[in-house]
Amino acid sequence: MAQLNIGVLVSGSGSNLQAIMDACDSGALPADIVFVGSDNPDAYGLERGRKAGIPVFVTDYVGIRKTFSQDPDSVHVPSDFDLDDVLAKQRLFPADHPRRKLEDYFTLRAAMEKDLLDRISVYSFDLLVLAGFMRIFSPYFIDRITTDRTRPRIINIHPALLPAFPGTDGYRDTFENGCKVGGCTVHFVDYGEDSGPIIGQKAFDIIPGDTLDTVKTKGLALEWQLYPECIRLVAENRLVLDSSGRKTVVTVLPESRP
Ligand code: GAR
Repeated sequence: MAQLNIGVLVSGSGSNLQAIMDACDSGALPADIVFVGSDNPDAYGLERGRKAGIPVFVTDYVGIRKTFSQDPDSVHVPSDFDLDDVLAKQRLFPADHPRRKLEDYFTLRAAMEKDLLDRISVYSFDLLVLAGFMRIFSPYFIDRITTDRTRPRIINIHPALLPAFPGTDGYRDTFENGCKVGGCTVHFVDYGEDSGPIIGQKAFDIIPGDTLDTVKTKGLALEWQLYPECIRLVAENRLVLDSSGRKTVVTVLPESRP
């Protein structure tokens, strides 16, 4: 089986990154991590990458936003940014959202994403792994990573059983809604928010006495198993996308026997 080159993006602690690094080290995951990037210079995930001798970098989303709000013209908008194309594809805002606001949002996003693209393009990677990366990608970025829609190249882990509770706080949403089951989902990234084809899920019971903290602890423990397993399926080329229905669904092919 060929070794998969993966790039990982983190915003915080990077415990999923650690689980992926450990799986690579143990041989459970036939992959090499070629970079760790972040939007947050203080992300502990960067430190985990550094300690493992992996190249790390930061794209300064906050700084670029600040520059944009002070002087929009000074922000570097990529020459290949096509606003109409992005607006036609985006699924983050309703179609009747004010055009001026959409223009600002996606122009700023393209500037941030161009910085990120420039940083990652020096590495050769097969798969971009979002491991607690708390930024949404626009079609501008996604189209430059996933050039063949039958083989998406961005993968994400989400702290809820999608399609329930997309967004930034899946375990809290699960807990505060009184769910009796929680879980995590690994999916390919598409133009919507946490809406892409589902690769794998794991679930846990929520029982009387559980708190938000215990729910998060149970969930994270499952994430650390699920993410390396799903990346392994990509490495083994066992995922097939079917877009003939209302939603694109992923079929997992059986393991090939030696
Ligand atoms: C994880 O729970 C992950 O599912 C979640 O952030 C946490 C990151 O933890 N991701 C999202 O909410 C993405 N929308 P980690 O930094 O310790 O891996």
